[in-house]
Amino acid sequence: MTESAALTEMLGLARETALTAGALAKQRRAEGVEIAASKSSPEDVVTQADRETERLIRRLLAEARPNDGFYGEESEGTTGTSGLTWVVDPIDGTVNYLYGIPLYAVSIAVVEGEPDPASWRTLAGAVYNPALDELYTAAAGQGAFLGARRLQVKTDVPLALALAGTGFGYQAPRRQWQADVVRDLIGEVRDIRRLGSAALDLCGVAAGRLDIYYERGLHPWDHAAGALVAREAGARVGGFGGDREGEDLLISADPGLYSRFEPVLAKIFARHAATAV
Ligand code: IPD
Ligand code: CA
Ligand code: CA
Ligand code: CA
Repeated sequence: MTESAALTEMLGLARETALTAGALAKQRRAEGVEIAASKSSPEDVVTQADRETERLIRRLLAEARPNDGFYGEESEGTTGTSGLTWVVDPIDGTVNYLYGIPLYAVSIAVVEGEPDPASWRTLAGAVYNPALDELYTAAAGQGAFLGARRLQVKTDVPLALALAGTGFGYQAPRRQWQADVVRDLIGEVRDIRRLGSAALDLCGVAAGRLDIYYERGLHPWDHAAGALVAREAGARVGGFGGDREGEDLLISADPGLYSRFEPVLAKIFARHAATAV
């Protein structure tokens, strides 16, 4: 099989699995959602639907590709023998899901190498928002799509007119620090959004619904698929100074806007270095 045919096959599996899992999450949402447990803090919650959706995704992927690894938010990971790993967030935007805000998504990516954003190569990804029935897909070198529409990131947006998205972690000291950064950033950009789903924020940059997205403290499953969608739409995704994206920082924007935003954010981070977590 050619590499391009293999990518198409994996993208098809990511897409079909995201659609099936999204339908389950949406159905469970309609039936009523309750918190199953708190995780790292009382704000960091998980519902039965997060767990059930991950179980379904895991089963469908294992049936189709038994030799691949699995790395998801809600269960123990496994290493496969193929060198490929599925990186999965069953519901990205759990707090929105809990409140019935229609901004949550199933995020599924397949990566080559260790499931570590410092070194992996993302081959294909799908992000599906079942509440809005919006499906974002991308395969390496083959472009990014919202449904059948090819996505291209907006260019030439001045920083002062850029709509920036960000997010906050679940631990109090980090949230405080992130709020300090937002306070300093608000005067530099058009406005700031906290939409509540990192995967949809990244797809939002691809679709022109946000000009910039940045966040500190993300996990690999939050951004694996969305970062490929953003990149394939022409966005740059990374950290400071040419670093890869990771837990420390992820920035995504059109390359020109990225280079105008990066020094501004770096200066703000430096100002708050003493309290950075
Ligand atoms: C969270 C969302 C949120 C981001 C957090 C993530 P979850 O994921 O993506 O937008 O700000 O950092 O943990 O817990 O809803 O899957
Ligand atoms: Ca979570
Ligand atoms: Ca997430
Ligand atoms: Ca999640």
